[in-house]
Amino acid sequence: MKWSATGTRFTSHSGILQLMDDLGRALSGPDKKCMLGGGNPALIPEVAAIWRAQMRSLLEDQSRFDGVLGRYDTPQGRPTFLRAVAGMLNREYDWNLTEENIAVTNGSQSAFFILFNLLAGPDDRGMSRRVLFPLMPEYIGYRDQAIRPDDFVACEPGIEQIDEHTHKYHIDFDSLEAGPDIAAICVSRPTNPTGNVLTDEEIARLDEMAQARRIPLIIDNAYGAPFPDIIFADARPTWNENVVLSMSLSKIGLPSLRTGILVARPDIVRAVGAMNAIVSLANGAVGQALTERLFETGEILTMSRDIIRPFYRHRRDHALGCVRSSFGDRFPWSVHRPEGSLFLWIWFPRLPGTTTQLYERLKERDVIVVPGRYFSFGRSGTWDHTEECIRVNYAMNEHDVEHGIAVIAEEVARMWSTGCR
Ligand SMILES: Cc1ncc(COP(=O)(O)O)c(C=O)c1O
Repeated sequence: MKWSATGTRFTSHSGILQLMDDLGRALSGPDKKCMLGGGNPALIPEVAAIWRAQMRSLLEDQSRFDGVLGRYDTPQGRPTFLRAVAGMLNREYDWNLTEENIAVTNGSQSAFFILFNLLAGPDDRGMSRRVLFPLMPEYIGYRDQAIRPDDFVACEPGIEQIDEHTHKYHIDFDSLEAGPDIAAICVSRPTNPTGNVLTDEEIARLDEMAQARRIPLIIDNAYGAPFPDIIFADARPTWNENVVLSMSLSKIGLPSLRTGILVARPDIVRAVGAMNAIVSLANGAVGQALTERLFETGEILTMSRDIIRPFYRHRRDHALGCVRSSFGDRFPWSVHRPEGSLFLWIWFPRLPGTTTQLYERLKERDVIVVPGRYFSFGRSGTWDHTEECIRVNYAMNEHDVEHGIAVIAEEVARMWSTGCR
């Protein structure tokens, strides 16, 4: 097939495509895999019961049910849902939002595709602008989303070594510059893959920088407050007219319903609605209908605080305990302080070989993780640091996490003792 330049870019066998293929194949094979690789949230029984109750009540209300399934919504989202989301956020944070500040997308993944390509690239005077990611490593899902390969630029972090086995990344503001070629600044907070939560001060400085340049600060809040609230650090959610805050129903337990929510000023919301109309006419409505009452009553907040956050906190502590007891003093290791999201980001300083090789060795033993190199983009060349890191999802069952981490310890120890042969 003769693809366009854009078609070639999106269909070329990029590392991430190969990896996702690998993950899918590993899962569909005959042997049971220990899946610590993907971004799936946990299936929490109390939360699943809430979805079933909401679905039953939707089914019992015949005209509502028929309307949800049988009509296209406006490209911006269901008006009742937009009002419910704005109302909940106003009660929580006093942001003075109206439905004109909320846009729904088919998952937040597509919100980023829309935003990045609305903002980056050549403008009407031919000047090319890029999206700045101030803190690598960043979410793997952004890396192939730009229509032009040079539309992203990124910075390496400062690394604070908190103790022998714990570190934290900080934005290196001394090297960070948002010149006239920058169209927007984007961060995930909590960060996938590292579990980092940018401090309020870091967010305030980014906000100041973006306001000075009159460019949006995009904050990806897929794991943050007030829902799903998988955040264990003290951090204040931020919104103002210059911020685009992205949220999602996925990590609260509804990834298959593909519902992303953007909070932004009205001209950005209208632009996202216009792109939605072109790309997909309208959004899927089931996620919105299923959760609308939970936004109205505030139950979305209580279930996040009382069920979801404690669940993941427990899983995080369990995974950290497994790392400590399996790794011990066998080789050098350091975990990024896990302040949110559902991942441990583990660094093996001076590892003989790369974590891409470690990934292959683990796959042979039916343990799936994600090697660190895929979380670095927007820079030229490779970055040795990410070649020494892996991401481990700790949302799966505790037995698999314990087993998977024990196998990781064995393989890393073997790489050290054999010099990676
Ligand atoms: C940081 C981050 N942002 C966005 C997404 C996309 O999520 P969804 O499209 O399911 O809303 C993910 C999914 O893993 C994520 O980790």
